[in-house]
Amino acid sequence: MSEKDRVIIFDTTLRDGEQSPGCSMHLEEKLRMAEILDQMGVDVIEAGFPIASQGDFEAVQGVAKCVKNAAVAGLCRAKASDIEASAEALKPAERKRIHTFISTSPLHMKHKLQMPPEEVLNAAVESITTARKFTDDVEWSAEDATRTEDDFLCQCVEAAIKAGARTINLPDTVGYSIPEEYAAMFTMVLNRVPNIDKAILSVHCHNDMGLAAANSLAGITAGARQAECTINGIGERAGNAAMEEIVMAMRTRQDMLPYKTGIDTTMITMASRTLSSITGFNVQPNKAIVGANAFAHESGIHQDGMLKNEKTYEIMTPASVGLRKSDLVLGKHSGRHAFKKKLAEMGYELGDNAFQDAFKRFKDLADKKKTVFDEDIIALLGDDGALNERLKFISLSVKAGSDGQSAILELEVDGAIKKTEAAGNGPVDAIFNAIRDLFPHPDTDLPLYQVHAVTGGTDAQAEVTVKLEEKGRTAMGQSADVDTMVASARAYIYALNKLLRKREKSISEPGP
Ligand code: KIV
Ligand code: ZN
Repeated sequence: MSEKDRVIIFDTTLRDGEQSPGCSMHLEEKLRMAEILDQMGVDVIEAGFPIASQGDFEAVQGVAKCVKNAAVAGLCRAKASDIEASAEALKPAERKRIHTFISTSPLHMKHKLQMPPEEVLNAAVESITTARKFTDDVEWSAEDATRTEDDFLCQCVEAAIKAGARTINLPDTVGYSIPEEYAAMFTMVLNRVPNIDKAILSVHCHNDMGLAAANSLAGITAGARQAECTINGIGERAGNAAMEEIVMAMRTRQDMLPYKTGIDTTMITMASRTLSSITGFNVQPNKAIVGANAFAHESGIHQDGMLKNEKTYEIMTPASVGLRKSDLVLGKHSGRHAFKKKLAEMGYELGDNAFQDAFKRFKDLADKKKTVFDEDIIALLGDDGALNERLKFISLSVKAGSDGQSAILELEVDGAIKKTEAAGNGPVDAIFNAIRDLFPHPDTDLPLYQVHAVTGGTDAQAEVTVKLEEKGRTAMGQSADVDTMVASARAYIYALNKLLRKREKSISEPGP
């Protein structure tokens, strides 16, 4: 396979992905994700929109400092101030890319920009010229390209390349296109723009109609050689094209999609889980490639086929995406060896010091929790404050039944023992009211409360997941116990402790 079949992977998890509600990330969280993306072979990491806020500026700067292999991109509108902010934030990067965009569709130009087409064209050219003063690697995006008139799109693309853009991105900003149509736009641009051989064409698809990956692949088949995407498909509205879907489709269907990427696909599961743990955004169980059921076979016929030959129902191996079956359950008796094995199964390789540090945190956590879940381990790896728990569970008794529900709860709050009794609409509500009574946190919402039975039978362990949200920050807590009420209280307290640490960190970070 020649270099002309190499598809550049441009990951925008930290920019377009982060723009989705509830997915905002702090500096350390972005750095953690950036390191994973870099290690897995992403070619370009779009780290943020530096002019948007001081936090975004610092995140782009931080990623620019820590990334070793990938180019780091900062997004800018067609404004000198945006481009200067990006250039400044990207200074520490070994390889920097300035990504500038402006809308080109009649709808956006008239209503959003309130600019006539000639002005838009001039602004695009001017922004690229300015960006080229800082780096040779300039990308230009025609926002809402799929609803742009062909003649104007070609005119803009030609002028953008002439002004020095090396990558031309044609986004399906509103997820409106269908595969044949999206491919036809690339074919049209390739046929009509005279200097198109001087640039790389890029796909950028949103998933409003569930077609983002299909559209991206159609664009690549038509000649695009860069794919913009996000881990788990997070992004504005219904999200962006999922990197794992694009990459695994190309890997699995080489007969139809004979392209290569630099992605180490065995890191996909780890990247997906780490992102979920950071954002509190779990992927749906039936999500392609990274969903909990993506490699699960439930029906008898399928199981029978799988036992005879795995290829009957499996088109990709779990190992190819880094999914290893594990029955290693960790608890307070687990030692270094088991912890190391578990980390390796989950795709994490830590240096000696980082391992010792993580092991200490694991032991402390295992002392407090009967079962340490994979999600706990992922959270613990990225949470150096995991031992500073302001709230500790002591005891709980619950009254349930048709005569009303209440909870008597005892907690240690900042070192002091406190006890209260609270009523609620059901026993779980009563417990959560008791927690709020002992430690008021009125600005916090509870967007998720979920119970799973870990095993069968009425004595099954209940696994409870709680997600808390406060001013764009989210935190997940999980706990398991044979008593669902105790698991609920512990999961809530665990999530609340995490949220409090995030709150403290953001107060100590300088504001915009
Ligand atoms: O969807 C879009 O058009 C974008 C651009 C800013 C590239 O995200
Ligand atoms: Zn987008």
